[in-house]
Amino acid sequence: MSTFNAPKGTFDMLPPYSETYNRIRIQFGLELRDAGFQYIETPTFEDTGLFARGVGESTDIVSKEMYTFSDRAGRSLTLRPEGTAAVVRSVLQHKLYAARLPVKLWYFGSYYRYEQPQAGRTRQFTQVGAEAIGSRDPLVDVEMIALAVEGFQKLGLTDFRLLLNSLGCRECRPVYRSRLQEFLRSLDLDEDTLRRVDINPLRVLDDKRPEVQAQLTGAPLITDSLCEACAAHHTFVRSMLDDLGIKYEDDPRLVRGLDYYVRTIFEFVHDGLGAQSAIGGGGRYDGLAQELGGPELPSVGWALGVGRTMLALEAEGREIEMGADCDVYGVALGEEARREVFKLVTALRVADIPADMAFDSKKLKGAMKAADQSGARYAIILGDRDLADGVVQLKDLTTGDQAPVSLHLVVDSLKEKLQ
Ligand code: HAM
Repeated sequence: MSTFNAPKGTFDMLPPYSETYNRIRIQFGLELRDAGFQYIETPTFEDTGLFARGVGESTDIVSKEMYTFSDRAGRSLTLRPEGTAAVVRSVLQHKLYAARLPVKLWYFGSYYRYEQPQAGRTRQFTQVGAEAIGSRDPLVDVEMIALAVEGFQKLGLTDFRLLLNSLGCRECRPVYRSRLQEFLRSLDLDEDTLRRVDINPLRVLDDKRPEVQAQLTGAPLITDSLCEACAAHHTFVRSMLDDLGIKYEDDPRLVRGLDYYVRTIFEFVHDGLGAQSAIGGGGRYDGLAQELGGPELPSVGWALGVGRTMLALEAEGREIEMGADCDVYGVALGEEARREVFKLVTALRVADIPADMAFDSKKLKGAMKAADQSGARYAIILGDRDLADGVVQLKDLTTGDQAPVSLHLVVDSLKEKLQ
């Protein structure tokens, strides 16, 4: 019979990498909770209109990359390509903004984009994200950036760079957009790119083709066109980052693949990753809540790619300290001993000692091999004679030393040894 593989662009998150993956989730969760963020989970699919309106019809994400389908009742639904629009939808739906502002939320989950798969780019990927909804304070922009930096650093990453730009606002961006369009129309560009100049000229700045890049040298820069309020906001963010000692690179050509951004945008890139170097990105999206039918809720947030973060850790040769999966491994010889060892393993777990045992009545040799493979520091070995004596053999798997310990005392004794 034929077998199945995971669909193109998807992957199985297998051990031991899955441990790193979980660790990233736990670490960001703890860090963000300490900074006042609460966890939110939204559905995997949403009304297609949410992303069309929220992310923007002219973006590649909406125009080319969405997994859109009709359900049996004919509703158009889309697997979420990103998290921000859905989080804002949820905040509006449940009026979370009626409480203390900003509403600070974090999330972790799978996102879906129909992209050409390559190293670091998959059709299903995981993001950890954080959003601060309902504040226009530039300090919040800095807080968000600082939290992402702290998260990467706590994972042990060092070779990443923070790129920073401002996209201006509804007042100053249209002026810049026209100036940029005028400049771009004077260049030698192909049909497709010229169409892009009409729809989304800022994206042309992001065109990676050398023949396009070569012509962009004299392009007008957004940072020269910011209105007074946007310029002040940007200056504040930069000086506060300086105060915190967070290094950043001004990148006036930086643009993002989502339409909702205003003012601050940023991206984290890792130089060990090749073409797909962005390990995270975000920015301010002051108009999104209104765009989605809600009140004015100026907001800022980011999402980090968990898969790319794992590739970055690998590129830097970092291993996340995971601790032993298992401290104690039980080995039982005989049916009655199996029951006793199982009870001990259960009692160890209740005492917060990671423990496991050999199942399926393995012979001593096979069971001891499994004990070694488990990474445990101690084995508890129980045979018929031990059982009759009311003891268990406690073996230190590092030194090989072995001694009998009373069955009643073994949990306490291990607790002491493993302290
Ligand atoms: P984004 O830049 O589209 O932003 O995605 C954030 C991160 O997700 C990227 O930097 C990358 O690490 C990862 N990522 C994106 N697409 C893929 C893919 N196909 N394969 C693997 N990893 C990928 C957003 O999604 C915004 N919602 C971020 C945000 C939150 N802005 C404000 N709040």
